[in-house]
Amino acid sequence: MNAATEAHHLQIMLDGESMAAHWMPFTANRQFKQAPRLLVASEGMYYTTHDGRRVLDMIAGLWCCNAGHRREPIVRAIQEMAATLDMATPFNMGHPAAFTAAARVIAMAPANMKHVMFTNSGSESVDTALKIALAWHRQRGQGSRTRLIGRVRGYHGVNLGGTAVGGIVGNRKLFGALVAGVDHLPSTHLPEVNAFSRGQPAHGAYLADELERLVALHDASTIAAVIVEPVAGSTGVLIPPKGYLERLREICTRHGILLIFDEVITGFGRTGAAFAAQRYGVMPDIITCAKGLTNGSVPMGGVIVSGDIYEAFMQGPEHLPELPHGYTYSAHPLACAAANATLKLYADEGLFARAHAMAPTFEDAVHSLRGTRHVIDIRNDGLVAGIELEPRPGAPGARAFEVFLACYQRGLLVRTTGDIIALSPPFIVEEAQIAQAVDTLREVIAQTA
Ligand SMILES: Cc1ncc(COP(=O)(O)O)c(C=O)c1O
Repeated sequence: MNAATEAHHLQIMLDGESMAAHWMPFTANRQFKQAPRLLVASEGMYYTTHDGRRVLDMIAGLWCCNAGHRREPIVRAIQEMAATLDMATPFNMGHPAAFTAAARVIAMAPANMKHVMFTNSGSESVDTALKIALAWHRQRGQGSRTRLIGRVRGYHGVNLGGTAVGGIVGNRKLFGALVAGVDHLPSTHLPEVNAFSRGQPAHGAYLADELERLVALHDASTIAAVIVEPVAGSTGVLIPPKGYLERLREICTRHGILLIFDEVITGFGRTGAAFAAQRYGVMPDIITCAKGLTNGSVPMGGVIVSGDIYEAFMQGPEHLPELPHGYTYSAHPLACAAANATLKLYADEGLFARAHAMAPTFEDAVHSLRGTRHVIDIRNDGLVAGIELEPRPGAPGARAFEVFLACYQRGLLVRTTGDIIALSPPFIVEEAQIAQAVDTLREVIAQTA
């Protein structure tokens, strides 16, 4: 866009009436439209705002841009694909980049993961995974296994299945009965014993035993799958207690229940390994992913499954689809081009190892906020951290939202959920940028009422 077009574009955007048309997702629309915050460009660790300021992005877009913004090999791959193949019908036709992207994903996934079905988002990945779990049991003659188990404070996107297994009341209460036959494990958040833990908290493995209680209540023969985020991200960064995921795995295996890890945030290096399954040494049956798959550049998600799951479907007449499921834009050429370039870039630059190496510096920096006014907990693993503030009486979320706004004014982008500030920088983050972010947060939090 040339400068004149850009200025014209902005003028239209900032005109009150034009802004009204865009019903913004997960946004306080009225507050935003009174004082818009527009991002107009990005590069590396920074955004440029509409008022010409540079903002340090400490949330990688939205847990997406693990390699930093607008990386040249990814941009080039997307441009080249757009100029070569715009759309390739994904049903009964294929294109080479889809197969390469799938092979790359499987090469970095845990060893038991053999196949991936592409989607266009994390929410689609979750609902696809839940459907695969239900269908898999039926394929094997266990059609009574229809219950799905999520977890309190889980976030699995916004489609009906994901909302149902999700455990954030504000995301659920407006939407009626959601999906029948869903139950929830308790949250693993135990601030009274685990506050200010570095890495995996010591207490809480016993919370996995609640699955035994649900089995006793419903009977294993009715339960299809358990879905959890290895690290719960959107609910405010909850790191799994030591031994918790292992125990969940054992109980699922004992009762023939599929274990789904929702790795939409943790996938592609966030915890310092390609997937959190590898970081914590616990292998699920299905992994959902998105975000970092294309470095956030083109919408794309994926459902990664074990060989067992895929093979159970490979039967019946060969002229019929084995699974009646898929999206018009599944494995879209632009997304696959972006994924191929992204996954190559992660490998070429050793970015997961960099995230792992930078994690102790990041940990020390965020924990230096302990003792700052209002801060009641700090938790972290890999390059993700949550800083929890005491809620203002009668106004939950208000204090953290003010911190978010003040940080933005000072050139720092953070994410807040409730009264928790989440940090998840791109893996190219430098020590000085971590220090700058933490210093800004320290000042802003201390000055917030
Ligand atoms: C664990 C998890 N699952 C699913 C989703 C939904 O992804 P999307 O917003 O791409 O639909 C998210 C988004 O943050 C997530 O964190």
